[in-house]
Amino acid sequence: MLDPEVVYLNHGSFGACPRRVLDAQSAHRERIERDAMRFYIYDLWTDIDRSREALGSLINAEAEDLVFVSNATSGVANVIANVDLRPGDEVLVTRFEYPACINNLRRACEQTGAELVVVDLPWNPIDEDSVVEAIMGRVSDRTRLAMFSLITSATAVRMPVERLIAELNGRGVETLLDAAHGPGCVPMDIKAWNPTYCTGNAHKWLCSAKGCAFLYVHKDKQGGFRPVILSNDAYGIKAAIGRTKRSAFNHEFDYMGTDDRTPMMVVADAIETLGGFYTGGIDELMERNRAMCIEARDLLCGALGTEPVVPDSMLGPLAVIDIPAPGMDPRVLRERLMAEHRIESMIVPNPGGDTPMIRVSPQVYNSMEQYRYCADAIRSIVGIS
Ligand SMILES: Cc1ncc(COP(=O)(O)O)c(C=O)c1O
Repeated sequence: MLDPEVVYLNHGSFGACPRRVLDAQSAHRERIERDAMRFYIYDLWTDIDRSREALGSLINAEAEDLVFVSNATSGVANVIANVDLRPGDEVLVTRFEYPACINNLRRACEQTGAELVVVDLPWNPIDEDSVVEAIMGRVSDRTRLAMFSLITSATAVRMPVERLIAELNGRGVETLLDAAHGPGCVPMDIKAWNPTYCTGNAHKWLCSAKGCAFLYVHKDKQGGFRPVILSNDAYGIKAAIGRTKRSAFNHEFDYMGTDDRTPMMVVADAIETLGGFYTGGIDELMERNRAMCIEARDLLCGALGTEPVVPDSMLGPLAVIDIPAPGMDPRVLRERLMAEHRIESMIVPNPGGDTPMIRVSPQVYNSMEQYRYCADAIRSIVGIS
């Protein structure tokens, strides 16, 4: 559906949904409007189960441990509402976490008297050992919860989540893994990683319809785990789950008032569509996207005369490239790339200086030709001859 007049180089922010998936969503919308009563009372539950199964196989989680919410921000907010924070508790985040997720935690801390501890992760250079050391060094016997990304947003670091979760589990700290860049982005293995909670978007790298993320909750925490928005059955849940034949956890999240469930109903279609591009399915697609990301990063670094910041071992299909234009406002550069070159890009501030950085995030529709064009455009704007 992408505008052919635009060089779209920012898949990472909002994804891009193929026509085939949108068509499937429209078919569901029409079906619902033909008999909404039937849908919301009977069909909804099994339709959501289909998505739960498809997503569960992709990220190696048991389907029944997954529910759907509108986006990763909502996934985080729902987890925070279910963690019983007390005055004096500490909640760990890193300085590279997504602002909306931190904001939800900050408010919970303000309301409960818990303390938000922001870990000062290293940058340029950054490596796995120092990330693990920085986070574990801030764990105390008051740490209740640690939230960190699988891939950080504006810095594009694939965090050593396997090590972090194992060490935090060992210290009795609950983990909230923000895998907004997760399904369809990098291989995920919930069973092996064993976080307490994990949320991740379907509308980014799975190219599903906008407004769908999963929320995984460890079985030990599902009892009494409830959505922020309670629906009709909240205080009659036993009878309700007798009717819909599922856990209270699944039931309460599957229906949270009358809303658009069609983004949740096309997850399997998105997985099938993405898996159909290469014989090796989504695994091959993820590998190719990562390879193009590294090639694009090298090309841009070469053209701009800067060095890569993040080691390849800490990259998925997203990477940032420093731009030698001290003092240039990232928003101005983004707007000029669009106005003068029709390039849609993600320009972010360098957390270690006053230069802008470009974040690349190639998906199947991107080409190296587009990155060459982008490198020339940036050189002309920032004055590299
Ligand atoms: C790491 C991370 N977490 C959370 C989000 C929020 O995603 P959403 O807007 O779908 O809630 C993003 C979005 O870019 C992100 O990069």
